[in-house]
Amino acid sequence: MTEHAACSVELGDLGIDQGGHLLVKRALRAVSVGTPIAVYGNAPELAVHLRGWCRAQGHDIEIANRVDGPAAVITRGSAEVGRWRGADPTGTAATPEEHARAHWGLAGRSATVESGAPDFDFPLDTRAEVWVEEAARLYAHAAASQWNPATAIAWDEPFDLHDEIEDAVVQVMTYLIENETAALVIPARFASQVHPHFREVMQLLAIQAADEARHIEVFTRRALLRRPKLGLSTVGGQTSLKTLIDEPNFALSSMLLSVLGEGSFLTLLGFLQQHAPDPITRQVSRLVGQDEARHVAFGVAHLKHHVSKDPTLLGRLADAIERRHDVLANTAGLNEEVFDALVLLAAGSWQPAALHSGWEKVQVLLADMGQGRIHRLCKVGFDGKTAEALSALHTRNFM
Ligand SMILES: [Fe+2]
Ligand SMILES: [Fe+2]
Repeated sequence: MTEHAACSVELGDLGIDQGGHLLVKRALRAVSVGTPIAVYGNAPELAVHLRGWCRAQGHDIEIANRVDGPAAVITRGSAEVGRWRGADPTGTAATPEEHARAHWGLAGRSATVESGAPDFDFPLDTRAEVWVEEAARLYAHAAASQWNPATAIAWDEPFDLHDEIEDAVVQVMTYLIENETAALVIPARFASQVHPHFREVMQLLAIQAADEARHIEVFTRRALLRRPKLGLSTVGGQTSLKTLIDEPNFALSSMLLSVLGEGSFLTLLGFLQQHAPDPITRQVSRLVGQDEARHVAFGVAHLKHHVSKDPTLLGRLADAIERRHDVLANTAGLNEEVFDALVLLAAGSWQPAALHSGWEKVQVLLADMGQGRIHRLCKVGFDGKTAEALSALHTRNFM
């Protein structure tokens, strides 16, 4: 029968249970289905082991009893039989599928998943609701832009501040820290809900959470640079942030947190960079602003894509903004301590003329935030008039 075999494998005294199966497998891969290969070898129980292995793998086997010939001839079975029968390919590496299956689980995109794999519960499993074409590029940019808080900021750079200005900085930092904490908790939660088939989105949310961890660190470090403790945390501020944390829907959360909240923060960080009374606050605001710009870009791109797949989403987004406004209507919004601190930072002194100028700069800040929100709402798909109305409903807490 060896004359029929397309090729042969020489195992010598290597047993099938000692790694010999790798050589047999390799030889079978090299021939087409239905083609026989001859296996030579003299390991004890070789024929028995080969028979069991072939049964499990779905190949036909004929045991030979000739002393001078092969131990067996194996005919390659169809890939559809044996252990990989019913195995499920998970699409292509480059492009995700419309719907990620529960049993694809943790397998990387384009892997072949063995039949019988367990179902995982990743609720965000459709391309329409999570995907953005820019995800891979945004993730690569984020990964390349990570900065080290210990070295990126000149923490020991000398500066001299009036006590009350230092207090104003500490109050603003106290406010920023709790906002950054909300901005960490939310993407961290959604990162664990996105089906891993949409790997780039999952990675993007994870690195966003890491960005926020760094923001919390640098704002805390600046606040405690010259003070033993942080400033005041208000009911209005925390209530506003709680409505963000309590929003369970990915798209609605993306609108409220990333497009409107972090979008407004981007303007605030620009303001702080411009009016910071010391070099460290300035550096911290600049670095955090760079990261926030990515978070906002992702939020806008995500919703723009989602709306293009499902235009009815616009109505739900508008409802979510209105609902949040109603919930927060009776809260104070931005605490007056933060507002006053921003005026003082922009004023730079206690002179009445300087305070007036500082107050006007904060009015410009509020107007700029509004314009930014309108611009982003239009990018997502709202018309100008609706965007203006929705922007006006955004929380006075900024985030
Ligand atoms: Fe942040
Ligand atoms: Fe952020």
